[in-house]
Amino acid sequence: MLVRLCRGCQPATALVAAFAGPFWGPKQEARVGNRLEGRVAIVTGAGSGIGRASAALFAAEGASVLCTDINEAVMQTAAAINDGGGKAIGVQGDAGDEAQVKAWVERASDELGGLDAVYANAGISGGWSSLEETSVEQFEQILRVNLIGPFLAIKHAAPRMAKQGKGAIVCTASVAGLRANAGGIPYSASKAGVISLVQTTSNVLYGSGVRINAICPGLIETGMTKPIFDMARARGRDDRIGQLNAQARYGNPEEIAAMALFLVSDEGSYVNGQAFAVDGGLSSTHPFLPPRRRAGGHPDEA
Ligand SMILES: NC(=O)c1ccc[n+]([C@@H]2O[C@H](COP(=O)([O-])OP(=O)(O)OC[C@H]3O[C@@H](n4cnc5c(N)ncnc54)[C@H](O)[C@@H]3O)[C@@H](O)[C@H]2O)c1
Repeated sequence: MLVRLCRGCQPATALVAAFAGPFWGPKQEARVGNRLEGRVAIVTGAGSGIGRASAALFAAEGASVLCTDINEAVMQTAAAINDGGGKAIGVQGDAGDEAQVKAWVERASDELGGLDAVYANAGISGGWSSLEETSVEQFEQILRVNLIGPFLAIKHAAPRMAKQGKGAIVCTASVAGLRANAGGIPYSASKAGVISLVQTTSNVLYGSGVRINAICPGLIETGMTKPIFDMARARGRDDRIGQLNAQARYGNPEEIAAMALFLVSDEGSYVNGQAFAVDGGLSSTHPFLPPRRRAGGHPDEA
């Protein structure tokens, strides 16, 4: 089995990395726990990156998972979960389309037997453009996927969960939604909107038993950030990636999936309406120029 060990990963995370990676372990090693035993989950953007790792982790913890993505790669995610002894359905579609989101909720309930958790994670970055070059069409497209998508997931999943008096929804925001300089203008606005969305919707669902939270990832190596990593590696500057946070490294999709699992599981039973940065400390510091450091040395010694 290929174990993708990442710098700073704990052993449990490494095991999940093995499960979520391109090579999946034998069936008996696919399960890592029972925190979602018997539950049904939907994960959007499950064809790549954070969504794929989360779908794999939810399944490894016992959930049946409806995996969705606009990219057909989502079928590979579902197939890999099923091959590994888990249970998943792959559905190709648009997370910003209301009819499709409604259909996913119905399909999860009808074919997988209920709906306990939704991870509204699909997103697009839209790249960087100047204020003058940013068009209304570009802004609308990013808001449609990144903000209206999570809104639709909440709109159609929460009432169903409220009827059973229990359910958890997690949305992927970003550190770009907390403050500037981590994404383009529409992207950052969309992610700030997601943070507000989880606050307002968890409030209007007062007393329903449905919890809604957001995760604000820092720099994570995924399909979305591949150009950044590719460019840095091509220039031999990969040691500079992710150096702006106190852990001095970038993150891995499995480290975001671990937070999503906590939030949708019973371990997060009293956590509601919050946005959690999972960013190695990036958003906790003032901007600074990282000192050059000797191998193993404290920055002050550099
Ligand atoms: N990678 C990072 O550094 C980072 C940081 C902060 C936040 N995020 C957020 O994490 C989430 C997941 O992104 P990722 O980093 O795993 O990137 P990714 O590109 O690997 O995965 C995103 C997935 O969303 C899918 N998608 C895009 N538009 C869609 C649509 N309309 N309907 C359904 N699926 C769609 C893509 O096909 C892709 O598979 C996004 O919301 C992103 O904004 C990522």
